[in-house]
Amino acid sequence: MERENFGSRFGVLVAMAGSAIGLGNLWRFPYLVGSYGGAAFIFVYIFCVFLLCLPIFISEVTIGRRSHSNAFGAFKKLAPGTKWKWLGAVSVVTPVIVVSYYSVVGGWSVEYFLKAVTLEFTTGMSRSEMGMMFGKFISSVWSPLIGHTIFLLLTAFIVISGVKSGIEKFGKIMMPLLFVLIIVIAVRAATLPGAGEGLKYLFQPDFSKIDASVCAAALGQAFFSLSLGVGTILTYGSYVKKDENIIASSTYTASADFIFALLASCAIMPAVFAFGLNPQEGPGLVFETLPFIFSNMPLGWLVAILFFLALIVAALTSSISLYEVGVAYLVEEKKYSRRGASILIFVIAWVLGCLCSLSFGPLADLKIFGQTIFNLFDKVSANILMPVGGLLLVIFVGWVMKRADVIDEMTNGGRLKGNLWISGFVYFLIRYICPLAVVAVFLSALIF
Ligand code: PFF
Repeated sequence: MERENFGSRFGVLVAMAGSAIGLGNLWRFPYLVGSYGGAAFIFVYIFCVFLLCLPIFISEVTIGRRSHSNAFGAFKKLAPGTKWKWLGAVSVVTPVIVVSYYSVVGGWSVEYFLKAVTLEFTTGMSRSEMGMMFGKFISSVWSPLIGHTIFLLLTAFIVISGVKSGIEKFGKIMMPLLFVLIIVIAVRAATLPGAGEGLKYLFQPDFSKIDASVCAAALGQAFFSLSLGVGTILTYGSYVKKDENIIASSTYTASADFIFALLASCAIMPAVFAFGLNPQEGPGLVFETLPFIFSNMPLGWLVAILFFLALIVAALTSSISLYEVGVAYLVEEKKYSRRGASILIFVIAWVLGCLCSLSFGPLADLKIFGQTIFNLFDKVSANILMPVGGLLLVIFVGWVMKRADVIDEMTNGGRLKGNLWISGFVYFLIRYICPLAVVAVFLSALIF
């Protein structure tokens, strides 16, 4: 059977940017900016994205396109008979874990979108009432499970439709829409009286706030936001045609992801300041603080609908990339049909996701290593599996693959003359700087 490819350059970009831009940008980035001191965090984040994570991103695309295989098959092909296939195995398992808890939060977005459409955020509820409403919702049994199921079904449906007519087509329509939505919301937020303070918070760095914990948080977020270390970018890379410029596509993706994270912060922080709220709200920012703001601002009902729609779309384009890793593996290595593979992944992710969802309610007392199931999945994947996976991936490209092969892949066999010197520089970063920096940042976070 012919292996599918993305059909066009724009298709590659929207699929990769779709994977990168997600809950991480709209939910995680703004609350981290709030918790870690505003502009100073953003400043460190820029370095993490472009100097450390972009080369890792390029490494993943390189492995994918070179091997033309799923995450497991890639290592079997490029390093036959070695233990590297275990990295491939972990790269297939991790995204299934991530998609299971990711789709729980996706389900919350579905619920809040429905609340916005039925004008529940027009009642002028207080901030603490909003907090209580959210707490009651996530700790209940059925509503979050229904949201999780709807979200995962939508994901499965797009993936079953195929790489070109499912993933790529969905991205081509949804990614431009997503940018329009977030720009509209950011303009609305920036024109609220008192919004200037929020913008200052985002763009005037106080460098004294930078310490090891800020660096670790910024690097962790950059990994999460660029979908690194879990086989998704590798799998998407395997669908990139041989004549595409992978350094350029990766750079555009990282830039789009960064710009979107900034826009999301511009949509949220000015409003937080305009209402005199605390930017250090943490994870409750999107589901507690924002609905409060929406319910109290002029035209807030409309902004709420647009915002939660954006959240669903962003989350979906990311969850399909996570989902595709397991499907590609089952189809290519285990000879499943695309439909059969999608159903199997659905069942596993659905069951795990149900456990995550229930861990806010009936299963709240079930602790593993002192953590609820949701927190365990989140922490193990974001703090351990992703960084370690990313680290091993760059080591693979920098130290196991031959330099000539890597440069060959980044320059399309020397045909991309403009990439010749740049690929040498990227290779240097991949071989020396990225592994050292990643180890240093995470060790320093452990020690301090
Ligand atoms: N990058 C996504 C986000 O920012 O929401 C999350 C993600 C997607 C992480 C895919 C990892 C992944 F493989």
